[in-house]
Amino acid sequence: MTVTDFQVVQSSDTNAEGYHDFALGEFRFRRDEYFVYIDWPTGSHVMSVDAFLRALQRDVAWDFFYGIVNFDGVFGTVNHYGTVDIFAGRYNDSYRKAELDYSENVETPKIRETFKAILEDWTNDTFDPFASPHETGAPFGIKKGNNTSAITRRRVAANRMVAVPGDEQIRSDETGFPVNRMFLDVDQSEPVVEAEPGFESDVAAFNLFAYLSRSDVTWNPSVVSACKDSLFCPTTEEYILPIIHGNDRVEWFLQLSDQITWEVEDRDTGAVRSRVTMKAGDVCAMPADIRHQGYSPKRSMLLVWENNAGNIPELIASGQAPTYPVEF
Ligand code: PHB
Ligand code: FE
Repeated sequence: MTVTDFQVVQSSDTNAEGYHDFALGEFRFRRDEYFVYIDWPTGSHVMSVDAFLRALQRDVAWDFFYGIVNFDGVFGTVNHYGTVDIFAGRYNDSYRKAELDYSENVETPKIRETFKAILEDWTNDTFDPFASPHETGAPFGIKKGNNTSAITRRRVAANRMVAVPGDEQIRSDETGFPVNRMFLDVDQSEPVVEAEPGFESDVAAFNLFAYLSRSDVTWNPSVVSACKDSLFCPTTEEYILPIIHGNDRVEWFLQLSDQITWEVEDRDTGAVRSRVTMKAGDVCAMPADIRHQGYSPKRSMLLVWENNAGNIPELIASGQAPTYPVEF
């Protein structure tokens, strides 16, 4: 299905607060000054509009990401890489037991276009869903303008490595972004590379800390190097990861600066499993049968290391690969 085959289903009129209502399958979406209301055939849900828009922004920007994107303990999406499940209560033990859970499988372009339209319509000009709460205005109130440039920022994705000649991506100091207020002490000097003649396009280096110190977004990993399916995706974090991520593969976290506390729950039921506090220099692997949400009290630098191989979800689901990364 191409995007042009699909029309976003939205109300012709706006509501009293100036926002459109939206429909996707049997799901209905509505916002007012403070809240988002989601209805489905067996139940309904309410979320604060700031949490909803921050989660929606990640789901759209990451094209539904790896595995499950829980907006909270009730509502979210599962990526099947071509189709997406949209669900309510499916990974929530209480909803399951009460048989209030519901899910629909939709073609990716359909949910992508609907979610993009909701994000565009419901984000006012004062609010940047990618920014830390301290660096943006409020999302609340009646409809007031839009913030298209903020919500359509492109994720930085290197094909080889940032700074390697021929790669389309440039270092962020070259984009003119200022050093973030919390990273003013980060050394901005760049390494000197003296490549042997003939190897100028293969040998490169850049200051990753300087690069990250200038990131203007939070909880939005960029790909700075790609070696086959091995992706280094560093990011700057502040406040709370806006989604609870239920991965379909193992991922590694390297805490590059400051501190993040991870709340780790069972992926399917939401039962609490552990709390992991990572300080600068700590490394951990998140197993493939959990879900996690991070809390970063100061802006911090995190390197997320992903294995992008397309066959991993199937290998894990069928038991051919373990849900954990190493046997000690
Ligand atoms: C994750 O779900 O693993 C994740 C997502 C975004 C981040 C960091 C970690 O910024
Ligand atoms: Fe994750």
